[in-house]
Amino acid sequence: MNEHIPSPAMVRRVACIGTGVIGGGWVAHFLARGYRVTAWDPAPDFEAKLRRLVDAAWPALAELGLAAGASGQNLVIAATLEDAVADAEFVQESAPEDLALKRDLLARIDAATPVGVVISSSTSGYGMTEMQVDCPTPQRLVVGHPFNPPYLIPLVEVVGGERTEQWAVAWASEFFEVAGKSVITMQREVPGFIANRLQEAIWREALHMVANGEATPAQIDASITEGPGLRWPLLGPCLTFHLAGGEGGMAHMLDHFGPSLKSPWTRLAAPELTDELRDAMIKGCEEAAGGRSIAELVAERDRAVIAVMRAIDGVRNGKP
Ligand SMILES: NC(=O)c1ccc[n+]([C@@H]2O[C@H](COP(=O)([O-])OP(=O)(O)OC[C@H]3O[C@@H](n4cnc5c(N)ncnc54)[C@H](O)[C@@H]3O)[C@@H](O)[C@H]2O)c1
Repeated sequence: MNEHIPSPAMVRRVACIGTGVIGGGWVAHFLARGYRVTAWDPAPDFEAKLRRLVDAAWPALAELGLAAGASGQNLVIAATLEDAVADAEFVQESAPEDLALKRDLLARIDAATPVGVVISSSTSGYGMTEMQVDCPTPQRLVVGHPFNPPYLIPLVEVVGGERTEQWAVAWASEFFEVAGKSVITMQREVPGFIANRLQEAIWREALHMVANGEATPAQIDASITEGPGLRWPLLGPCLTFHLAGGEGGMAHMLDHFGPSLKSPWTRLAAPELTDELRDAMIKGCEEAAGGRSIAELVAERDRAVIAVMRAIDGVRNGKP
């Protein structure tokens, strides 16, 4: 751990650089969690836009429960990037997705941020290895990849680059947890991280089907919102298929449906279903089940699907 910085639980001052859709969402999240947030963005009208975004998010945040002392008053607008990070204990960068811009901006942030303070980038596609090339102290830079809106969707994928030191990845993961996020700490850089890779696979298939006149966008959306999408909030794609194997779980599922991996259901090349992949899937599902039997998972899934369907119905039909 780095002796220059507070432990993640002691952090009070956060800087957000770039305050568009994602950066503004981070500002709202950190304010709701009781932090003092210093924000900077080069757009001349950024303060008004940012305050509108925070005001619009606040009712949802209040409903979820604000931290003690949480207030929009804790937002400080900085005149320069250097002012914004001068006394920060954590920095989140959310500038446009442009590699040259990120390289230059992260190097400037790194030069101006107090020694040892962890700097995180919201990038959805670049690896930190390619972004940290011009940084004077690259060891403290990580990716903290959020989902829109960052004040509602809990997930953050945390990963370092080749020149990031392990303590910075561990510190950032712990900080995001303390700050109320759900964290996946990745072992190494993977293009698209985890969730975007999965989203992209579905998106690609959807575009193929639309391009070939096989399905309309409305049919594609309905196929998820009226179908597997209702199970995913609870189980994710792996435990969903664990239950598709009945009492035999993932092992039966793979042995039964394994050959269809090669059927022309998808335009993505299928992986070889090796013994290693089969074992990894079965072991991983047992771990994810955390001791719950198939019957317990089925009962939990059914309750969750009903609750999600009722919640969606309530929102659509204006019920409380
Ligand atoms: N939109 C999403 O769903 C989403 C999800 C996850 C991650 N991200 C990532 O978050 C980052 C920001 O995306 P966004 O959707 O908020 O974009 P956006 O266009 O809404 O906001 C970008 C902001 O950065 C500001 N900016 C421009 N140049 C800058 C600079 N040199 N330094 C600092 N700020 C600068 C702009 O004025 C703007 O306010 C990107 O890296 C993107 O990949 C986006």
